[in-house]
Amino acid sequence: MSKDILLWDETIFSNGEVLEFDYLPEHFVHRDSQMQALRFSLKPALRGMRPVNCLVKGPPGTGKTTAVMKVFNEVKEYTDDVAFVKVNCQIDSTRFAVVSRIYEQLVHITPPSSGISFRRLFEKVIKYLLDSNKTLVVALDDINYLFPEGHADEVMYSLLRAHEQYPGARISVIAIISDVGIPYSFDPRVGSVFLPEEIAFPRYEISEIADIISSRVKHAFFKDVVSDEALDMVVTYVDRTGDLRIGIDLLKRSGLNAERRASKNVSVEDVDKAYEASRLLHLCRNIKSLSDHEKTLLGLIAKDSSLPTGELYKLFHEVTGLGYTRFYEIIEKMHISRLIDADFSGKGMRGRTRYVAPAYDSKDILKCLE
Ligand SMILES: Nc1ncnc2c1ncn2[C@@H]1O[C@H](COP(=O)(O)OP(=O)(O)OP(=O)(O)O)[C@@H](O)[C@H]1O
Ligand SMILES: [Mg+2]
Repeated sequence: MSKDILLWDETIFSNGEVLEFDYLPEHFVHRDSQMQALRFSLKPALRGMRPVNCLVKGPPGTGKTTAVMKVFNEVKEYTDDVAFVKVNCQIDSTRFAVVSRIYEQLVHITPPSSGISFRRLFEKVIKYLLDSNKTLVVALDDINYLFPEGHADEVMYSLLRAHEQYPGARISVIAIISDVGIPYSFDPRVGSVFLPEEIAFPRYEISEIADIISSRVKHAFFKDVVSDEALDMVVTYVDRTGDLRIGIDLLKRSGLNAERRASKNVSVEDVDKAYEASRLLHLCRNIKSLSDHEKTLLGLIAKDSSLPTGELYKLFHEVTGLGYTRFYEIIEKMHISRLIDADFSGKGMRGRTRYVAPAYDSKDILKCLE
């Protein structure tokens, strides 16, 4: 047997774990000033003072979540008086869900999903903080998911004005915005209590992408498994969007493709083939966050984009039993999140939309909906 052929129990990954999405990289470079800004904002907490609120923003896959989690871990080493909680707003997308998650992470008990009001649950959180004399730092990760349905303001408002109602409560917020070009803004009432330190995570330069990707390759694969050509190809693909998540996903899939061929080397073809799946990462993530009714409507639009809106509504109503108002709310939401193009140029927003079309290749949308 040729030495280039992989035996069934052999692998080209020396440490495949470092290619998982939830892996917190030890080697985290090109973000020194952002890490430093986060450290300074949290520093007051070490002296029992409320940390400075932060607004962390930048395009997808630029290290925002990673930087915040790394700084949380660093500060945890110095103090037990601060509770750090990260809420993924794509999963917990209402005020109640956010405070449930906070409660769960503080008390290590999952609160009931009904039968308790937001207010009572929030009071339990505050009581825990006051009794234990802890400062709470909440990272609202991907808070952009809270904007389309208007939950961002009430979540922020509740957290940031807590001390007015409950004197002594210390809560600060790190709002993380994954900036995909969709406009957002906080209510002025939130703005006046938020007053954040803004920390920008710009898109990585191609040389930075190459640096980060090659370092990850070194940790994930055995020596000489990934050729320079394959590595360059990954870097080129990542540079199309600047999203490192795609690069890490590409490395994992390319490696698995090579193993499937029982090869000890990742080839350019393995990377090309992997890109077919990796490039849909964003779209699929976006679609996954939709409700079942929203997915149904998107599926109908993707299946036949030439349907007049009236016909589309009829079909939607037949399948879901939902009415006009909800139909247009969903159209609007998917328009704001750039999943569909809609022409609202008719008189009034509702009832006059002339056409609705998928903003992506219909085939790709249907693949993500599978
Ligand atoms: N400077 C870096 N060094 C090493 N790895 C990095 C770096 N920046 C990002 N990564 C890796 O890229 C992936 C994406 O990073 P992260 O999840 O922090 O991005 P994000 O800015 O939060 O993206 P999103 O807006 O989509 O949530 C992670 O796997 C992370 O480990
Ligand atoms: Mg993130």
